[in-house]
Amino acid sequence: MRIRNCAVIGAGLLLAAGCSHAERQARTAGEHGAIKGRAQATRSPRPAPPPPRKIDCDRVKCVALTFDDGPGPYTARLLDTLKRNGVRATFFMLGENVGAHRDIVRRMALEGQEVANHSWSHPDLTTLSSAEVRSQIQRTQKAVKDASGLAPTLVRPPYGSTNKRVEHAIGMPLVLWSVDTLDWRYRDVARDTRVGVKEPKSGGIVLFHDIHKPSVDSIPKVVDGLRKRGFTFVTVSELFTGRRLVPGTSYSERTAPPTQVTASPPPAGSSAARPPRARPPAPRPPALRRPTRRRPGGRCPAPRTPEPRAARRPAVWPPPRPSPRAPDPPPENRTTCGPRAPGAASSAPAADARACLEVASAMPRERVTCPVERRRRRAEPGRSRSDAAFAQARSRSEPPGERSGPGL
Ligand code: NI
Repeated sequence: MRIRNCAVIGAGLLLAAGCSHAERQARTAGEHGAIKGRAQATRSPRPAPPPPRKIDCDRVKCVALTFDDGPGPYTARLLDTLKRNGVRATFFMLGENVGAHRDIVRRMALEGQEVANHSWSHPDLTTLSSAEVRSQIQRTQKAVKDASGLAPTLVRPPYGSTNKRVEHAIGMPLVLWSVDTLDWRYRDVARDTRVGVKEPKSGGIVLFHDIHKPSVDSIPKVVDGLRKRGFTFVTVSELFTGRRLVPGTSYSERTAPPTQVTASPPPAGSSAARPPRARPPAPRPPALRRPTRRRPGGRCPAPRTPEPRAARRPAVWPPPRPSPRAPDPPPENRTTCGPRAPGAASSAPAADARACLEVASAMPRERVTCPVERRRRRAEPGRSRSDAAFAQARSRSEPPGERSGPGL
């Protein structure tokens, strides 16, 4: 009996011990489940971007609104405006601002906004080394991806400042803009609205800054105005759908596609089906003809019809140059004497110097050159008898007031 009681007590103890072990296991499992549930509840949900939209910006009037330098204190209100109006935009963010607004960055991705890279601290990248450029970009890539779950695929260099070395160091497509609202300078809602509504063109990229309150305040009216102009709001990546963005290349807008030549014939009856109007042929220059030669004993060539005056060309091409004119005789050979007849090139040469002097004395008002006498004067500095006779003859015929010079 005593032994039996002991066995019952032992079994009870074992049972109690087993129950407590099972309870402990169950409690442990429950705690683990609760912890796991709490962990799942507190873990940030992986951003699931909305499905990509199929918008053909070659056919649809697209515009991409972009916001730089955020996120900031007004970004959440901007997201409210965009969500309310069904607008998608692109945020080029600074890595150093992401840490303080992780929830906003996460919200961007969840609402279909595009997250993009605007460097870590907004330096002019052209003033940095290539390693520093890479650091600016990669640190921001990591910060945005940690916050949103999405790695940016586009970079906007601060100030739009870039060069070949920076582009190579970045290694991603660079996005600039086609409309700069200068909102950071003027901080004026009316101006931001006016520029934001009027200046964009199809395929354009508009630059705003969501760190400025007037900029964010202008967005509702900008959206209304652009929508009235028929624009569809897209992200930058959507804007370039169907285009390959090359790393290291800058893009500021979506340009019109190149015109394609259709191989299929146009439908009959359309204006394109009509043959083009034939143009009159351009007048051909007349063929160069060889000089016609009459063969001995042959027939004369048929008379040619005269060609139009404008098209007439000399029969021989190139036309023969005129023979060079015979050079004038040297001045010493111009042995003229006596007056020149009107229009005559020269007068008859004198027979001798004395006869020339006599002719000259008879024509005092005419210019008479007697080269024979001149040559003699050059040879003999003193005055010769012929000079004296010529001077006497001239002084007799010339009035006193008209004498010029001491001698001849
Ligand atoms: Ni900036």
